[in-house]
Amino acid sequence: MSRVNSVTTNPVYRDDELIRSLVERYHTPLYVFDEATIRQNCRDLKSAIEYPNTRIRYACKALTLGAVLRIILSEGLWIDASSLNEVHRAICAGASPQQIYYTGEGATADVYAHLVSKGILINCTSLDQIRLLGRVGGTKCSIRVNPGEGNGETNKTNTGGPSSKHGIYYTELDEAIALASDNGTLINGIHSHIGSGTDLAAWLRIKDKTLALARRLPDLEIVNLGGGLPVVYDDQADDAMPLQAWGSALSKSMQQFSREFGREIELQIEPGRYVVASSGILLAQTQAVKSTAEEEAATGYNFVIVNTGLNHNIRPTLYGAYHPIRFVPLHGGPRDVARDYVVAGYLCESGDVFTVGRDGHTLKPRCLPEVQVGDLMVMAGVGAYSHSMKSEYNSMNLPASVLIDASGTPKVIERRGTIHDIMRRELEAYNEGVG
Ligand code: LLP
Repeated sequence: MSRVNSVTTNPVYRDDELIRSLVERYHTPLYVFDEATIRQNCRDLKSAIEYPNTRIRYACKALTLGAVLRIILSEGLWIDASSLNEVHRAICAGASPQQIYYTGEGATADVYAHLVSKGILINCTSLDQIRLLGRVGGTKCSIRVNPGEGNGETNKTNTGGPSSKHGIYYTELDEAIALASDNGTLINGIHSHIGSGTDLAAWLRIKDKTLALARRLPDLEIVNLGGGLPVVYDDQADDAMPLQAWGSALSKSMQQFSREFGREIELQIEPGRYVVASSGILLAQTQAVKSTAEEEAATGYNFVIVNTGLNHNIRPTLYGAYHPIRFVPLHGGPRDVARDYVVAGYLCESGDVFTVGRDGHTLKPRCLPEVQVGDLMVMAGVGAYSHSMKSEYNSMNLPASVLIDASGTPKVIERRGTIHDIMRRELEAYNEGVG
């Protein structure tokens, strides 16, 4: 039986003693990342795909902290970047330009010229980007296609089909090929990324549409089938993902594709969530417990207010995403009585609630042992798209990030934010204005 990448398997999630000591030392709110979990996820991915000519890229938009990038690079994964600043951060973490692949919906001549001068392969996502690349003298590119169908955890994370803005629609492939040829740009790669949190059976089926398009590119060297691999957030509701079966099916299909194509084509995939989601925990502290229950009426809720919010994990509000939550009493053992609680953040925003239904709005209380002020909230599955989508809304300071390294030692890898961080650009603008 292969390991299930469930976000609750992170050893930090259930380690009450470690949680209390981290909070005592680094305070709340706090992101905690586990190096061993990141490494295990990388290794599981590598061993799942036996096709020999495979390159796994990490979609670093999922979590872009330098310490994390260094771990992932040391596991032999390369980088998928979606902005010039992600490129800079990857290079700071030790990636060489040749290890970086660039896919961005927005592009300017300056950005493209910079990428071309560094030798970074650009994945053009529109006909206009192919034109732009030609203007800045790009001689080689990959193209992102929308194969006409997608699949994601929610509509907001589905990136294929006619309602998706992403990529060159498959009906425009001939035009893309003609344009590149007019510009003297060689198309050496084809890419599709059909969604995030994708059902793997759908992923495998839709990849055949991309492979069918790939056959029409004579200079093809690389097929990049994107990311999207799901993880288990809810042990009760989510099916465990058959990673090995997916890897074997993918390998077989690539072997056949290369045989038919007449030469061995490099397979690339670029998962983000799979690599880091389970590695991250968010710690906060209970600031208030209140109730809207009316006497003798069956309405109302028990609310737990914690000192974090959608500013540190926007996924429940944005997608109705489920994240496991437990509370650790600051002192003493577990409590016997259980109640239904809505866990909410500290922001002045009604939607700042962590326990919501799939629509992202309906309150979905969870049955938890009695929660008291001061108890520590532990939220799992915040390794992907939580830290990287954080904000300073309500002028709240950003949390510090701690990495539990491979030897089990916690290290601060990003300090807590300050009022100075929040106001710095404003103050500098003022100083420039009056200076
Ligand atoms: N490649 C491209 C071109 C992408 O746009 C993405 C994600 C990935 C790879 C990695 O996808 P993954 O393996 O992580 O599913 N914020 C959302 C997810 C949006 C992902 C955007 N692109 C969330 O929190 O679920």
